[in-house]
Amino acid sequence: MYEYVHGGDIYSAKEQIGKEEILDFSVNTNPLGLPDEVKQAIEEALADSEKYPDPFCRELTAALANYEKTNQDYILCGNGASDIIFRLALALKPKKALLCAPTFADYEKALKTVGCDIDYYYLSIDEDFLVGIDFIDKINTETDMVYICNPNNPTGQLCSKSFIQNVLDRCRETKTVVLIDECFIDFIDQAEDYSVQPFVEAYSNLVILKAFTKIYAMAGIRLGYTITSNKLLIEKMRTSGQDWGVSSLAQAAGISALKLTDYIKETKRLIPEERIFLIRELTNLGFEIYGSKANYIFFKTNVANNVNVSNLNQRLLSKGILIRACSNYINLDSDFYRVAVKKRRDNMKLIEALKDVIDDENNDDNLRWVSR
Ligand SMILES: Cc1ncc(COP(=O)(O)O)c(C=O)c1O
Repeated sequence: MYEYVHGGDIYSAKEQIGKEEILDFSVNTNPLGLPDEVKQAIEEALADSEKYPDPFCRELTAALANYEKTNQDYILCGNGASDIIFRLALALKPKKALLCAPTFADYEKALKTVGCDIDYYYLSIDEDFLVGIDFIDKINTETDMVYICNPNNPTGQLCSKSFIQNVLDRCRETKTVVLIDECFIDFIDQAEDYSVQPFVEAYSNLVILKAFTKIYAMAGIRLGYTITSNKLLIEKMRTSGQDWGVSSLAQAAGISALKLTDYIKETKRLIPEERIFLIRELTNLGFEIYGSKANYIFFKTNVANNVNVSNLNQRLLSKGILIRACSNYINLDSDFYRVAVKKRRDNMKLIEALKDVIDDENNDDNLRWVSR
């Protein structure tokens, strides 16, 4: 049976615990929520929804070109960033691709639909899950595609711009296409120091992936886009899916979202503050934190001489809190979890619930000890 491997599955969680209210830390969308201006734009767009949407997303791509300071012809919009991932695999039909492990699951899922052979670069806990320079040694003339998620999901670890430039240079020699997934980059401090957008013009083998989903909390609306100077590839991706992949409601939502400078300013104030709060509290509880440079915290339980709790996700779910268990990521086990950075009230609820779970675990241990 098909296994859904992403966060945000509040529907199964509700069925499982029979409760309507779930506090969802398993999906990393902006805790400020869907902006009112976007809601209003969608409502206004409803009036025209009997018509087909613009298949070329003209107004949206023009707004994006202006926002991203790039050429309109370099942009293709899709039904969420995942749509672009699948279109890219279908457009190129790579025979061999290089992926980090762990990373976002849809790269592999999309590659498997075209029968691609996958080579993994295993990120090591001893290296804090950082991508090392030896990644480049794994790229050769047989490698058709390379994927780097920056910041990586689920680790929240970053690659430097200069490292990615080295990858791009090597891939230019080997005629390899490089996908750099920047879907979470707007949540990190000094995003411009890490984004490889300045390389778009110079490297036609570079494909950048971005989403409205996370930064504007628009997961249900479905809107993502790619930026590449490889116009032939854009055309191939365009024809590798339906013409109306982006609904008129999503197009209107995107156009209005791009005007929201205060919302982004507030996001950039809130996320670092709450990230620091959560990292401190989780560390105090005895969890080991890795990476976590974005709007999610990646941590490990069962750390030597420290906190020991199993089935953390199930135990929190019984309290109405959903977190992302990371055991289904390649190269991770059931000791790893990921939680979103939310507003302070919700973050405190998570920390309180974790304290309860740890207390319960300690009491169980004491009882086991007494009954021996
Ligand atoms: C790194 C990364 N890229 C892309 C996506 C897909 O985003 P979308 O919901 O816009 O399809 C996700 C979703 O979780 C993600 O984590």
